[in-house]
Amino acid sequence: MVISNSPVLSPNKYTGVNPRLKIDTFREQCPLAAGEDVIQGLTQRPKTLPPKYFYDDQGSLLFEKICDLPEYYLTRTETKILQNYASEIAHLTGACEIVELGSGSSTKTRILLDAYQDLDHPLHYLPIDISGGILEQSAYDLLENYPTLHIHGIVSTYETALKHLNFSPLPARMIGFIGSTLGNLKPEECHVFFSHIVEALQPGDYFLLGVDLHKSPSILEPAYDDSQGVTAAFNLNMLRHLNHLFEGNFNLQNFEHLAFYNQTDHQIEMHLKSLRSQTVELKKLNLAIEFTTGETIHTEISRKFELEKIRAELEDLGLVSLKTWTDENQWFGLILYQLKMV
Ligand code: AVJ
Repeated sequence: MVISNSPVLSPNKYTGVNPRLKIDTFREQCPLAAGEDVIQGLTQRPKTLPPKYFYDDQGSLLFEKICDLPEYYLTRTETKILQNYASEIAHLTGACEIVELGSGSSTKTRILLDAYQDLDHPLHYLPIDISGGILEQSAYDLLENYPTLHIHGIVSTYETALKHLNFSPLPARMIGFIGSTLGNLKPEECHVFFSHIVEALQPGDYFLLGVDLHKSPSILEPAYDDSQGVTAAFNLNMLRHLNHLFEGNFNLQNFEHLAFYNQTDHQIEMHLKSLRSQTVELKKLNLAIEFTTGETIHTEISRKFELEKIRAELEDLGLVSLKTWTDENQWFGLILYQLKMV
């Protein structure tokens, strides 16, 4: 038997619904492929799980709630930067197709869309997200609010989506990766990811990157361990999601949310700590995992960056940083790159 890992395109159920909307869904063809990283992560020591498993529809909603928390300064700060400089970004790039990796509810993107609309640029938006429910909902909302907007959504991982981008119908393309989602990637993963970005760009195209910056642990830690327990629910939701995907029996009450700033690696780490010794089964993966009391699963890193370093890293790949914007506290940075013209 030949097992292929190449993704398949599901039939497009949106064809004919609205001429301005298309949503493609890519699923891994080999059903096991989806769970391989789970098996890998849970059978190693210390145990780990990839952060993409946070985002079923429930997890995406919990993340939306995190963005509104008083302690979670990231979204508010980046929103302010966008409000101040979106029109400058639109002027710098001219008309372009906006591709967004991890679009979620597309709330911040509206600020950019408004700026391009004000310049009478044609509006083409390609939201890419792993959570189909939230992508579909926000696409319909956007169609109503932007009467000339064309949307082509892709429900898949970033890697698959980047490989399946067609040529941009507009003079340029801008790939947006905002919200400091980059922080989820380890340095070596960052490098591979950036090379995929470069491959998806033509000379003259743009890359807009939002990154959270170094700051005091007294600001960072509460942002990932809020007083209302929303981040704890978000972290624990990953286990519920795995139960659903793989017929698992994680009992969420037997785990506890942990978040702290690792000052050596400049990253927030989130873990789930087992409150007792227990065995958990994931039937579909044929997996039984044992936990000792206090044993942890590492679910996320959220790296914090330095502008000079991140600028230099991408310059090495042929991306020229055109301009960098920050807020008054220098908590968050937004960098606009352009792929060198040949
Ligand atoms: C979506 C990856 C940017 O790291 O701040 C929020 C996810 N995790 N609270 C982040 C997250 C816990 C978030 N990113």
